[in-house]
Amino acid sequence: MSRKILITGGAGFIGSHVVRLFVTQYPEYEIYNLDKLTYAGNLENLSDIAHAANYHFVKGDIVDRDFLDALFDTHRFHGVIHLAAESHVDRSITNPLEFVMTNMVGTANLLNAFRKYGDMQHGRFYHVSTDEVYGELGMTDPAFTEETPYHPNSPYSASKAGSDHLVRAYHHTYNMPVVISNCSNNYGSHQFPEKLIPLMIHNIRNRKPLPVYGKGENVRDWLWVNDHARAIDVIYHKGTSGETYNIGGNNEWKNIDLVHKLCEIMDRKLNRSAGESASLIHFVADRSGHDFRYAINADKLQRELGWTPSVQFDQGFEQTIDWYLANESWLEHVTSGSYRDYYQAMYGGR
Ligand code: NAD
Ligand code: DAU
Repeated sequence: MSRKILITGGAGFIGSHVVRLFVTQYPEYEIYNLDKLTYAGNLENLSDIAHAANYHFVKGDIVDRDFLDALFDTHRFHGVIHLAAESHVDRSITNPLEFVMTNMVGTANLLNAFRKYGDMQHGRFYHVSTDEVYGELGMTDPAFTEETPYHPNSPYSASKAGSDHLVRAYHHTYNMPVVISNCSNNYGSHQFPEKLIPLMIHNIRNRKPLPVYGKGENVRDWLWVNDHARAIDVIYHKGTSGETYNIGGNNEWKNIDLVHKLCEIMDRKLNRSAGESASLIHFVADRSGHDFRYAINADKLQRELGWTPSVQFDQGFEQTIDWYLANESWLEHVTSGSYRDYYQAMYGGR
């Protein structure tokens, strides 16, 4: 009998890589991709597997409880891999309630539907979460472990922390089989160009200003999105119910150093003179409440489940840049329509 797995947010950046991996690696599974197709969701991300026999797309909103109950009643999913979310910190600062609705109420609705109709005996509810729930680190603090207390600082990270707590509570209260992972910043193909790396690539190519928040001193740990998808595969199949796993790249960069590295590579790839792209850097007003540093200790995932990143940063970063340069039409499509208004409002004057 085939196993039905629901992946939420599969038309987004990370979700599309996870859907592709599950559809291609596990032909014995029936993969259902549930996505509302917000500004961040784009079915073009999955055009290569859209006609696979074991792939099904369902358009819908996880905030709509009746719709979810009917979907779960029909399909009796064996497992859920939940990625659907509002994911951009800056947007959570301007529109926090949308984040509460999708990230918290949406997750609660999914948990309830799984509890009623999912495979509570042998199945799995997997919540894909973020390292931002742990708050921020100083420059010399040790990296976040699974024991680090939650201290979310933005409406985005608070809404993800709230949904993590709900997932854990459903395990404790109802014995629901759950796993949670908390991952650092992902980079790779198909990321919406509001996030640092694709935004900078897009702007360099179009000779637009590169807005670096504050002094660019903030630190992030960067992981290749395909390695995140591999980690999700391993945790979904082998993780212990009720446990949390940190996922990270052991690859910390100050924002300004990363932007300079990107500028150097782009000068080379676009045959521009050295320093031309870096001359576009503009230091702009800092993000409100901007977390200084994130760093992840992923030892537990390596020790217990044998996962480590598969590519060196230099290799993954070059591949990523090449993908955006080769896929101008994708960038054009996702930056047309409503995003153009947002982009103008955010960066139009700079
Ligand atoms: P994304 O913004 O690229 O994609 C989110 C997807 O969710 C989109 O396809 C969107 O249409 C869908 N969606 C949004 N609201 C929905 C709703 N109400 N109902 C159904 N679908 C809805 O996000 P991403 O960067 O791919 O992140 C995916 C998940 O991974 C999120 O839960 C995020 O918190 C987590 N995460 C992201 C990163 C990162 O670096 N991007 C790191 C760690 C964890
Ligand atoms: O750590 C995991 C998180 O990483 C995920 O949970 C989030 O969904 C994801 O969006 C990401 O959050 P960040 O806020 O770290 O990512 P972002 O790409 O928005 O910003 C990365 C850093 O770059 C951050 O310090 C802010 C800075 N920045 C960002 C933008 C968009 C700039 O300096 N200029 C910019 O224009």
